[in-house]
Amino acid sequence: MNDLNLNSLYDLIGGEAKLRALVDRFYDLMDSSPEAKDIRAYHARSLTQSREKLFMFLSGWSGGPSLYIEKYGHPRLRMRHNPFAIGERERDQWLWCMNKAVEESDMLPAVKEHLKTRFYEVADFMRNKAEE
Ligand code: HEM
Repeated sequence: MNDLNLNSLYDLIGGEAKLRALVDRFYDLMDSSPEAKDIRAYHARSLTQSREKLFMFLSGWSGGPSLYIEKYGHPRLRMRHNPFAIGERERDQWLWCMNKAVEESDMLPAVKEHLKTRFYEVADFMRNKAEE
């Protein structure tokens, strides 16, 4: 145990500024890539709120400050995604944006791999529609 908690995923990502940059790149990619057009259409025209909420959520999720919970309470993420039909296609569009944002960052290769695995798990958990 060290007081600086330098081993949290949050710190390995690079802290607040790097996490914000990751989330911003993720939404910029979603906003501009045909690869993500179906899930982009689920979101409001402005992505400002989405950026803020995903940043706040990932802060706590990665072991940093629990910003989302402090402001909104328990995330209940799966329930909050119920209004949007999410199957393998939508999951993969989300992951396409996130994996690319991770790849483009300057995190250590092992941190990138770890994040991609964790993001796959959480995105797969969000699926709520049977495949045709
Ligand atoms: C699997 C495909 C996914 C799709 C299609 C999707 C789509 C959406 C949409 C349309 C919203 C509502 C707009 C907004 O508030 O931003 C939303 C909210 C949110 N999503 Fe996702 N999402 C997915 C996966 C994920 C994953 C994997 C995470 C976490 C790692 C996540 C975290 C969030 C958060 C924190 C919110 C805000 C919830 C709230 O307070 O309203 N989403 N998502």
